[in-house]
Amino acid sequence: MTGEGGRGTGDEGNAIAVATWSLSEPAEVVDSLFALLSEDERVRAAAFVREEPRRRFIVARGRLRERLGERIGVAPADVAFRYGPNGKPAAEGVQFNVAHTGDLALCAFADAPVGVDVERIRPIKNATALAERWFHADEVARIAAAPEPLAEFFRTWTMKEAALKLVGVGVGESLPKVLTPAEGAGWATGLPGNELGIDRCWVEPLAIDMEHVAALAFSPPPSSV
Ligand SMILES: CC(C)(COP(=O)(O)OP(=O)(O)OC[C@H]1O[C@@H](n2cnc3c(N)ncnc32)[C@H](O)[C@@H]1OP(=O)(O)O)[C@@H](O)C(=O)NCCC(=O)NCCS
Repeated sequence: MTGEGGRGTGDEGNAIAVATWSLSEPAEVVDSLFALLSEDERVRAAAFVREEPRRRFIVARGRLRERLGERIGVAPADVAFRYGPNGKPAAEGVQFNVAHTGDLALCAFADAPVGVDVERIRPIKNATALAERWFHADEVARIAAAPEPLAEFFRTWTMKEAALKLVGVGVGESLPKVLTPAEGAGWATGLPGNELGIDRCWVEPLAIDMEHVAALAFSPPPSSV
């Protein structure tokens, strides 16, 4: 599934568009996308030991360059990325964030910082232990009480990661302090210190398909809140 959709977020002027695309492309398409990559991206592609992740990386970056180039009015190969202290890519003229899982890429484009995450819903043996280690105590209780604990686990995971990716902080020790909303959209609080000075953000689920769960994080919230 591949697509693009607009998403208004109220009167703050932060229109958000969300796009998904497939990372599985024939060899000739991979080659043409490779031609768009910068030297450092080619070095990164070459460092993959396995062919499949290497091809996925090339398609993810190549397609991202195409979409960013269209938005900011430059050729895809001329999009210049800079990186935050923890590796969040940024470009002049548009805010964006990318996530991928398997053959699927998800990206949000906006006027203000955004974060996204997507995961394929799959069985996880130690979901309870993982949640106890990395999630907020309220979230652990919520997962235990949910009619579908695994779906709730992934919903919580994507919301937490989207919030941390909004502020450009890596997933790590700060995870248990971030508290995501109990259901639907809402505030994620307890964000770690970051260069944007944001300590909470709005997170909401994104509908992708039956196999995936995804979340979008942004700030400020829609005016309807
Ligand atoms: C960012 C992070 C949460 C991504 O997790 P993931 O589940 O592996 O990957 P996702 O599919 O969700 O997202 C990957 C994309 O997020 C973006 N990204 C990378 N670092 C990011 C960050 N710190 N914040 C937001 N987005 C980031 C990139 O576009 C990346 O795609 P790319 O690898 O094709 O360039 C994880 O890699 C992380 O914690 N990184 C931080 C590392 C860190 O703190 N380093 C400190 C010393 S440099």
